[in-house]
Amino acid sequence: MLHARISIDTNSVIGPVNRRLFGSFVEHLGRSVYDGIYEPGHDSADDNGFRRDVVELVKELGVTAIRYPGGNFVSGFRWEDSVGPVDRRPRRLDLAWHSTETNEVGLAEFDSWLKLIGSEMMLALNLGTRGVQEALDLLEYANLAQGTALAEQRIADGHPEPYGVQMWCLGNEMDGPWQLGHRSADDYGKLAAQTARAMRSFDPSLELVVCGSSSASMPTFGEWERTVLTHTYDEVDYISCHAYYEDRGDRGDFLASGVNMDHFIDSVTATADHVKAVRGSSKTINISFDEWNIWYNERFEKVDKLTGVDNWPVAPRLLEDQYTVTDAVVFGSLLMSLLRHADRVTSASLAQLVNVIAPIMTEPGGLAWRQTTFFPFAETSAHASGSALTVNVESETYATASYGDVPLIDSVATFDDQTGSGAIYLVNRSEHESIEVTIDLGNLSGSALAALSLWSSDPDAANTLDDPDRVGLTPNGTLRSSGATASITLPPISWTQITVSTVK
Ligand code: AHR
Repeated sequence: MLHARISIDTNSVIGPVNRRLFGSFVEHLGRSVYDGIYEPGHDSADDNGFRRDVVELVKELGVTAIRYPGGNFVSGFRWEDSVGPVDRRPRRLDLAWHSTETNEVGLAEFDSWLKLIGSEMMLALNLGTRGVQEALDLLEYANLAQGTALAEQRIADGHPEPYGVQMWCLGNEMDGPWQLGHRSADDYGKLAAQTARAMRSFDPSLELVVCGSSSASMPTFGEWERTVLTHTYDEVDYISCHAYYEDRGDRGDFLASGVNMDHFIDSVTATADHVKAVRGSSKTINISFDEWNIWYNERFEKVDKLTGVDNWPVAPRLLEDQYTVTDAVVFGSLLMSLLRHADRVTSASLAQLVNVIAPIMTEPGGLAWRQTTFFPFAETSAHASGSALTVNVESETYATASYGDVPLIDSVATFDDQTGSGAIYLVNRSEHESIEVTIDLGNLSGSALAALSLWSSDPDAANTLDDPDRVGLTPNGTLRSSGATASITLPPISWTQITVSTVK
């Protein structure tokens, strides 16, 4: 067996764990909304058509702010279509996903769903086919209490209280040639700055997210951030990062995806700080990592993608990736990367939530179940609080094609002074070897510890409609502790959470 050592110190603080790190994303895409969160004919549907079984799973997952309504969808979306009496709402083409949008679920319905799960709404604006005026109109409709045509329209639409949306995305992936209204960094930066300035003249306290790159492998990456932030630095609070990972046939490489995410975040932070220095600004721009996940995009391109001028289905099955144990381990390490940058990544959205590259799957008229990725998210959201801590790792490395030599063990920790509890997160990236990890507990010496692991003798095991509970978390019975030291054995390709309690 291989051996590794980690040391924890509650004084090695990275930054506070912001609850918004556990956000998610619901896009009008495939069966995310229709036949996902909303299925009026389902046995568990409430009076508004929302599936209660899905609500319970979303609550169990522990998601905070939810980004809505897209994604690529938003860049062709007319917000006016999604408000007012449902029977008068138009059906529209969704050019992003080659589907028909019925607008049966819109702003009011989504807001009422969010109330069921206790989450905050994060709205994305269409800066693809639309601009400053439409953004202002939506802001006024959503957030002004009363007294103007738009505020009174919302009241007449049955929503007397303003929605009070605090966080707004200034468009979506505007660097991507696939995006409706895709622009150069210069053109987008100017439009985003004008939109932000106009929105702030309504409410200076809004939190605004400008689009960064849709992946670190975009040809414009880095220069895009520099240019866009040069235009918008004084007007915005966050720059976005988006990243999706998939196993392209080299599992060792895939297991090291967190290294890529670490570099991505460090590069965007450095670029934002460069613009800060050039401008002599005292303000710091943070990151909203508002799309991250495992996504088998190649499968989408080859299998799912819809075409045809007479083929515009409602809620087709799109991006319904089935996640394996290996996917969930990589997913867990991506969450660890976010925690490792808690000082600068202060908001994040798991893309997405239900049916579409999702931790929760549903069958029309049938079951709702947890994918493998559900478990690391739910546990981390439930236990990571207070401050994120740097963990010192001494581990053997392995050679990867994309990232050079990468440590077999990845780790980060959190500790909450208020509750006296913490959590240590560990991933074993080895494909075949268990690793015994010795933990130097430092000033957490003598704490009560408990461990859960996600792993399987079959790294391709998944939860499916026919076998929804095949993969889950299991207590890791190898955990031992004595005073200042603990030890645990991590199976190959596994994710582990050790909870720490100093409360006697
Ligand atoms: O989450 C799926 C898609 O990925 C989103 O619509 C888009 O923003 C990104 O490319």
